[in-house]
Amino acid sequence: MEENKKTESGQGIHGHEKSGELSSEFPASIPNKESKMDKINSKGVHCWYGDFHVLRDINMEIKHNTVTALIGPSGCGKSTYLRIFNRMNDLIEGFRLEGEVAIDGKDIFARDVRINELRKKVGMVFQKPNPFPKSIFENVAYGLRVNGVTHKKFIEETVERSLKQAALWEEVKDKLDKNALSLSGGQQQRLCIARAIAIEPSVVLMDEPSSALDPISSAKIEELIWELKAKYTILIVTHNMQQAARVSDKTAFFYIGELVEYDDTKTIFTNPKKEKTQNYITGRFG
Ligand SMILES: Nc1ncnc2c1ncn2[C@@H]1O[C@H](COP(=O)(O)OP(=O)(O)O)[C@@H](O)[C@H]1O
Ligand SMILES: [Mg+2]
Repeated sequence: MEENKKTESGQGIHGHEKSGELSSEFPASIPNKESKMDKINSKGVHCWYGDFHVLRDINMEIKHNTVTALIGPSGCGKSTYLRIFNRMNDLIEGFRLEGEVAIDGKDIFARDVRINELRKKVGMVFQKPNPFPKSIFENVAYGLRVNGVTHKKFIEETVERSLKQAALWEEVKDKLDKNALSLSGGQQQRLCIARAIAIEPSVVLMDEPSSALDPISSAKIEELIWELKAKYTILIVTHNMQQAARVSDKTAFFYIGELVEYDDTKTIFTNPKKEKTQNYITGRFG
């Protein structure tokens, strides 16, 4: 249905890179619960910052349309691990990775991968809402514009759809030309989510997306995450155990660069296999 919409109204991007080339490299964001193939696969991943061995032998298989929570004490490597999937760590001097990381079965470090294409498929939301000092509308339209989309109606429809998906539309529909910085923190974060999903990624990475927000905004973001998984595969770093338990299907517990335990969220929180996990989730350290 989304696909139809795109073709009907998308003359503006017709012939543009977005559809054709991208889909051959990274298949489109089609919910595919039946698929036997994992959405994300990391095998024997090690990372270093210079001499510092920050992640050790991380193996994870992540299914389509699931929410995976990454938990663990501060400094254990959660953000580093998250940034692997859109290759954000590549920007850090001295960063090095060994091992295999595939999205939709495609090695994201293969030589023919274009990072811009990868980042269109793998969106990211940060801890602090970081809207651009532009209008609400332009924040959401941004990803389309930088990708060369000019079709006015297509952009308008996409902005509206994204704001609806991010549960923000009702609050902003009458002031789309207002500066995004005039929104509350919670609204700004939902705007950033709308901005991330406007270009139809298939994976959304969230690094503590609600830790800077008040409890009500935080609850809204959680509700939203739960809804978004119908369309996206979501990885979320969180310090909040209750949040991890509420929003995720799977939980991965990291401790000093190692993946200690990775299982169904329910198992991790009710019947973990490792003592370290038990100690962490019961608040004995961290
Ligand atoms: N750009 C960087 N250069 C060097 N060390 C870094 C860099 N970013 C993070 N680190 C170190 O890597 C470790 C893991 O960091 P991070 O992935 O941010 O952990 P977490 O998100 O679990 O708090 C920490 O010891 C941190 O100090
Ligand atoms: Mg972090």
